[in-house]
Parts: sequence; structure tokens; C-alpha cells
Amino acid sequence: MIDLAVIPVAGRGTRLLPLTKSQPKEMLPVAGKPVVQYVVEELIRSGVHRMLFVTGAGKTAIENHFDIDNELIDNLRATGKEDLLAELAFERKDADYFYLRQRRQLGLGHAVLCAEPFVRGQRFVVALGDSIIGRGSESKIVQRMINLFEKNGDVKGVIAFEEVPHDEVFQYGIAQPGKNSTDFFELDDIVEKPSPEEAPSQLAVAARYVFSAEIFEYLRTTTPGKGGEIQLTDAIRRMIHDKKRFLGVHLSPSELRYDIGNFESYFTAFTEFALADPVYGASVKQHLKKLLER
Ligand code: UTP
Repeated sequence: MIDLAVIPVAGRGTRLLPLTKSQPKEMLPVAGKPVVQYVVEELIRSGVHRMLFVTGAGKTAIENHFDIDNELIDNLRATGKEDLLAELAFERKDADYFYLRQRRQLGLGHAVLCAEPFVRGQRFVVALGDSIIGRGSESKIVQRMINLFEKNGDVKGVIAFEEVPHDEVFQYGIAQPGKNSTDFFELDDIVEKPSPEEAPSQLAVAARYVFSAEIFEYLRTTTPGKGGEIQLTDAIRRMIHDKKRFLGVHLSPSELRYDIGNFESYFTAFTEFALADPVYGASVKQHLKKLLER
């Protein structure tokens, strides 16, 4: 049974400066919740209950966010604000939280490698702490990936992919898909941030992975690649070249990926989620309409 997720949240988030100077990118609000809360809620929905955050300097707000804050709860009760207690219900969801530090920000691959002593040979999920999947809180992509992994004994990894426009492929790890089945495809190769001319497809890695612990052997011997960082994609690629079987799954149309790593995608995500808010969405929409008509 796979019920452990490694959630890397140690990156510096330099593309969002000055917003991220003293607060974690993963704690930025998207409408009413911080990004990383959406990630954890999605994982719980998919049956994953142990969350291992790989954190770093300046990220303690994440730990505080998932702690149970009895003082705040007592305060809300004492001041007659019981209705707000529902906003803290996520604290009591069925999950355990663990934290370890990536002491130097050497890239996503290195952040995952930091989890090795905790993972100890298990199969595990990796869910990027700065990416939300699906706006309607229904995505069970990780559950689909876990089922696929468990049904295919020889598989070493399952990766979620999303189709992106041709001129955006240079921002992502891109799949070279092989044989297609109904709900997955064989991953024949993967290329980190190719130019549009070099890209083998428009299928971009979408922030969710399931791995066997064998990935660590490859991460340990992966040399820094693009940007001087140890790239997760490079380790996956080396495994595929060694004939290790990886599968790709498509996000469904209701499972769009919202990566808040740059201002354009962050603003877009915030706007879409605010418009979909059950309480405030309608009035935000009215306001935006008026603004656009001016
Ligand atoms: P990004 O690739 O967006 O990198 O991280 P970043 O360093 O956070 O952002 P920029 O490029 O400086 O703007 C994707 C996910 O991987 C984590 C991040 O916290 C984010 O959730 N990450 C990245 C780490 O945990 N450690 C790293 O060394 C790099």
C-alpha cells in the first residue's frame, strides 16, 4: 500500500520576488487557502495519509499551518466565533505530518533525495508543494496513479502529464510517449525543458509522481543539469535508458494544473479560484465585469 507523500517545499521561489522574500511560495493564498493546503487535501482524498515535507530556510509557516492550534480554537470559542471553527477543520483531517530539511537548495531531484532515510525502501508519491491539480477539489489523479503502479508489478514510476501549448514546452519536462493503453501510456523518454523544435511531444510533467525507492540510487549519481540543479527528470531519464518501466497518465480536463511558480500563473490561479468561490465568486465576477467594460 502506498500512503506516503514527499512534498518538496524548500525552493527559494525567486521568480516571485519580492513576494517570497520572507514567506514561503507554498503558503501564498489562492483565493481562501494557501497553495500547499490544496495539495495536502488532494493527497488525503487519494488515500495518502503520511505527508513528509522537505522544507528549508524560511519555511516554518508551513509547519505552523498544519499544527493543531488549540489556543486559536479556544479563542474563537471564547469570543463567540464558533462559525469560524469550520475553517480550521483541515487541521483534524486524518493525516500525519513529518518535516525534514534540505540544507542547500540544490534542486528538486536533491530535495527528493533528502527524503531517502525516511522513505526506507517504500514506494512513495511526490507532490510538488507549489502546484494545485483541479479547481473543483475533486481530483483523484494520485489515486489513479497509485492503482496503476500497484497493478503493474514491474513499474518503477508513474508520472502525471498535461498537454501544454507548443511554445511553452521549454518550461517543463516533456514526455516522449510510447505505446498507448486506455488509461496510461508507456514513457519511452523524457526531456527536461526542450526547445519547441526538440520537444518530442507537448505532454508536460504535471507535478505528481509515484516512485519505487530505486529512484534514490539514480538521484545519488545524477550530476547537476540545467540551472546547476540536480534534476528529478534527469534521474528518471537515466532509469528509462536502463530499461526501467515508467508509465504516464493524462490529467483529465477537470484536472488542470495550477503551478503558482511565476507571476502570470499565480495571478491566473488566484483569479480563477476567486471567481469559483462559492461565497464571494459572484460578487468578484460582477466587479471584474465592470472593470473590463470600462
Ligand atoms: P521550482 O522548480 O519552481 O523552484 O520548484 P523554486 O526554487 O521553488 O523557484 P524559482 O525557480 O527560484 O522561482 C518546484 C517545487 O520544488 C521545490 C519547490 O519548493 C517547489 O515546491 N524545490 C525546488 C525544493 O524543495 N528544493 C529545491 O532545491 C528546488
